[in-house]
Amino acid sequence: EPPINVRSLSEAIGIRANDLIKRMMNSMGLQVNINANLEEESAVMLAMEFGVELEVIHERTAEDDLLEAWEPDEAEVLNQVPRPPVITILGHVDHGKTSLLDRIRKSNVVSGESGGITQHIGAYQVEHEGKLLTFVDTPGHEAFTAMRARGANVTDIVVLVVAADDGVMPQTQEAIAHAKAADVPIVIALNKIDLPNVNLNKIYGELSQQDLAPEEYGGDTPVVKTSAVTGQGIPELLEMLGIVAELRCEILATPSRPATGTCLEASISEGRGVVATVLVQDGTLKVGDVMVCGDGFGRVRALFDDKGNSVTEAGPSMPVEVSGLDEVPTAGEKFGVVEDVSRAREIAETRRLRTRGVALGERQAVTLENLYSKM
Ligand code: GTP
Ligand code: MG
Repeated sequence: EPPINVRSLSEAIGIRANDLIKRMMNSMGLQVNINANLEEESAVMLAMEFGVELEVIHERTAEDDLLEAWEPDEAEVLNQVPRPPVITILGHVDHGKTSLLDRIRKSNVVSGESGGITQHIGAYQVEHEGKLLTFVDTPGHEAFTAMRARGANVTDIVVLVVAADDGVMPQTQEAIAHAKAADVPIVIALNKIDLPNVNLNKIYGELSQQDLAPEEYGGDTPVVKTSAVTGQGIPELLEMLGIVAELRCEILATPSRPATGTCLEASISEGRGVVATVLVQDGTLKVGDVMVCGDGFGRVRALFDDKGNSVTEAGPSMPVEVSGLDEVPTAGEKFGVVEDVSRAREIAETRRLRTRGVALGERQAVTLENLYSKM
């Protein structure tokens, strides 16, 4: 939608543009011209200074229609069935997230990583007592805040990995904040329990301070003592995750509908073009489907599961590598399947224009923040 600028505000509230510009200059020290974009809140405040209550009405856009079409309708909701829970591993850098997940899958991702730091979100499915669990790994490095936030947003349960020799650290606290913001239950894996001189009292105290009093301490946060090295506690952790998942009765999806979900990571791969790891959250994604993801679109050329096997479709909660998009989407962007390529192109082109429009608009937008700072 078009941004509010000084001219359109002037027309909307019947105050001369010159008076608006003078007011911004005099009371806020801002020098702007008639085409300067204003953030909605700033425009409301400015109007208020002239005794006008400005109500900004948002017109429905094609984008709104699209996102609504991606939501399940009533009949689809009636057809919902249980899907595997999506479990995100969060925690401070080096506390053992990847090692723990690796131990769970009994493969060897850690040794293949450069420098041992997880550079992207990996996602895998494992079977436990005949039921699938989907795990999403995240990096603990401070540079990856956005990825942890996105991880928390696609998840049903968070496993918060806390190293027993280190305790609650900055990225632990940040992970807790993400999990709380996403309103998902937290299971704590008190990892590296094999190390000597572990001070449980200290860590339980730190956890209690974060509002995560362990069950052992009379609180209600499940804490499982684990070691990715010896394997201690892994069965108990999976057991606990199964119990927590059962209690969350909203872990449902409609496999028969067109797929929607979230991009976890994406890159350009030589010979394969754009490759995106996506998590299917609802519906089933099939080879040949036409999908839109962020500014990219394309016909799904191939799908690979977490073990690198080629598959023809991916159902709810399944992480899958997709090739066929024309542009690299940003991790965290939603994807959805649309009717045909021309519709997909239309959506993607509108989005690309908008992205450019926003990038241009931002440069001269008067924000509430700089409005306040000049007052
Ligand atoms: P980032 O992805 O970089 O945030 O780290 P991470 O949390 O994935 O940690 P990672 O699994 O890479 O492990 C970090 C280091 O801790 C490695 O050297 C592991 O071998 C070691 N480690 C992980 N789990 C355990 C454990 O249970 N016990 C002991 N003794 N060492 C562990
Ligand atoms: Mg890692």
